[in-house]
Amino acid sequence: MNKRALITGSSTGIGFEYAKYLSKEGWSLDLISQNKARSLESKNKLSYEKAQFHIFDLGKKESINSILDNFETPDLIVANAGIAINGNIGEIKQDEREYFFYLMCGGVIDLIEGFIPKMLDKRNGRIVIISSIGAKTSMPKSSLYSSIKAGIYAYGKSISTELKNKNISVTVSLPGYVRTKAHERVGLDHLIKKVPGWMWINPEQVVLETEVASLKGKSEVIPGKVYKTVKPFLNLNIAVKIWKWITKRN
Ligand SMILES: NC(=O)c1ccc[n+]([C@@H]2O[C@H](COP(=O)([O-])OP(=O)(O)OC[C@H]3O[C@@H](n4cnc5c(N)ncnc54)[C@H](OP(=O)(O)O)[C@@H]3O)[C@@H](O)[C@H]2O)c1
Repeated sequence: MNKRALITGSSTGIGFEYAKYLSKEGWSLDLISQNKARSLESKNKLSYEKAQFHIFDLGKKESINSILDNFETPDLIVANAGIAINGNIGEIKQDEREYFFYLMCGGVIDLIEGFIPKMLDKRNGRIVIISSIGAKTSMPKSSLYSSIKAGIYAYGKSISTELKNKNISVTVSLPGYVRTKAHERVGLDHLIKKVPGWMWINPEQVVLETEVASLKGKSEVIPGKVYKTVKPFLNLNIAVKIWKWITKRN
């Protein structure tokens, strides 16, 4: 087997677990993150000779252009890099809003659009987009995050249908709370204490369920039983009230 995967946001959390999972399957890996120290730490932890580690700030267009110009066409793209964004309406500056949109939506689209002609030539490939359950529900004080994740969800769903007969599967994964560094990184430590344990799932589970869905050619997956169960109720007022209460800072 000589399959190549490109994973963005591979230094920790879901991206790192994805790299670990694929390394066990013998994939060659292009692993992208932005912080050198964390990348090195993940390199030592993964300890896998078929992995190459790259440093790029994916919130910048020139990074995506450089990847498209210099990387081999992947057989699998895992568009995962991202950060939690918390802030009241009116509080996040325009340049920050644009940066976040590019990192988790515009840049993901540029990456996929750039690679797709060569993937189509190969007539084979898979694309996985890590969105969020926030794409499907209202998230007061995280409206920017939920709109970005909804945007990339809509793109992924649409191209999934468009590419159906071209042997390229596109799967959008919509995790709820996952035990990673995401919340701690942006000072949302209160969530770790406040959100009940049963609402958290492990990154390994996200990867496993997402890979199963991708290999089956499913366009969307919600990892974890708890989130599958609550999906029909996400837009009810009661669900929004519970979300507001859980995420309220003391
Ligand atoms: N954790 C959750 O509860 C949750 C729920 C739903 C969806 N998600 C989504 O899952 C994805 C992965 O998050 P995670 O929970 O695994 O968080 P994480 O542990 O904080 O990992 C985030 C990864 O993204 C990379 N990254 C962030 N900004 C970047 C940038 N500008 N350029 C390049 N790489 C960048 C980080 O690299 P560095 O280490 O170099 O910064 C890191 O490898 C995100 O898209 C997130 O929105 C997470």
